[in-house]
Amino acid sequence: MTEIRRIAVNTGGGDAPGLNAVIRAVVLTAERLGWEVHGILDGYGGLFRDDGVILLDRRAVSGITHLGGTILGTTNRGNPLKWPVKADDGSMTYEDRSQRVLDEIAGHDIDALIAIGGDGSLGIAQKLAEKGLKVVGVPKTIDNDLAATNLTFGFTTAVETATDAIGKLHSTAEAHERVMVVELMGRSAGWISLFAGLAGTADVILIPEIPYDMDSVCRKIESRYSSGSEFAIVVVSEGAFPVGGEPLFKQSAEGQKRLGGVAKLVADEINDRTGRETRELVLGHLQRGGGPNAYDRLLALRFGAAAVRLVSEGEFGTMVALDPPNVLAVPLEEAIATIKTVPLDAEVLDTARALGICMGD
Ligand code: F6P
Repeated sequence: MTEIRRIAVNTGGGDAPGLNAVIRAVVLTAERLGWEVHGILDGYGGLFRDDGVILLDRRAVSGITHLGGTILGTTNRGNPLKWPVKADDGSMTYEDRSQRVLDEIAGHDIDALIAIGGDGSLGIAQKLAEKGLKVVGVPKTIDNDLAATNLTFGFTTAVETATDAIGKLHSTAEAHERVMVVELMGRSAGWISLFAGLAGTADVILIPEIPYDMDSVCRKIESRYSSGSEFAIVVVSEGAFPVGGEPLFKQSAEGQKRLGGVAKLVADEINDRTGRETRELVLGHLQRGGGPNAYDRLLALRFGAAAVRLVSEGEFGTMVALDPPNVLAVPLEEAIATIKTVPLDAEVLDTARALGICMGD
């Protein structure tokens, strides 16, 4: 087994509350083993420039457990296997820089990498592991859509932010007797919408796992108005789509395809069909912003410490995962194989239906 003296840590993909807590736990746990920790800035990008790998000691990670974002920076446009290079004429080409990642890591005398990321970043880590990198993954995403772990940190904080927003919509909806439609993140998994919609007392929750039928949605809204509750709250997941339809995408400023726009579609259709005054709101990146709640801090600290433990045991090519009450290792390959969506027989779905919430079907 390689003797470990120096490890690196990086954060890739979209940020999630709790990244800094993982970094702190990695540094403090590794220091106690006598190792040095370096942080690679901006995903793998820091490896390709002079000042992009920094020493992380106890002082560097002091007081960061509660902070949102990541002190290392992150990107979802920095895949070293398809690294974007701009030609002189402005056109983009993509090159495989995986060998360079391995060379740079060796050049910095780094014995192993702890890669914190979602399915995309963990897929990259898996490819680099196949090429010989000693890597342990730490799962993060507010979407909670990684199958190999019971929970990812950032999720419960995002649910809290969304629940709070839905709660605040109630008073303005009631004051104006309006239907408020709020679009939440989650890609093709409805976890954030289902949990926040339930906790925030939504009347309708539309998730990608259950294609929605506008007749059913409008019936629910009309039944609320006719029973004397003259307002309604509709939560719609960004990946939700109607029966026979497709999820909606829009172009980001960087020209990438991003889910989005379904709240407006649903709001307009409710207005057309019922005549009720309707407004839509896209909560967007607020769900990723701010510091982690206590649960996410704890999960992130546990994941960081466990990742160092796995490195010390030589368990490379793995990812830490929550299997309550334990944190254990799963092969990276298994971790990225499937996305965890809401099962149609989930008890939490039954709960929503038992409370009279319309799930769109
Ligand atoms: O995966 C996390 C997430 O916030 C998704 O819920 C959302 O679809 C996506 O990232 C947004 O990505 P970006 O930050 O690139 O707009």
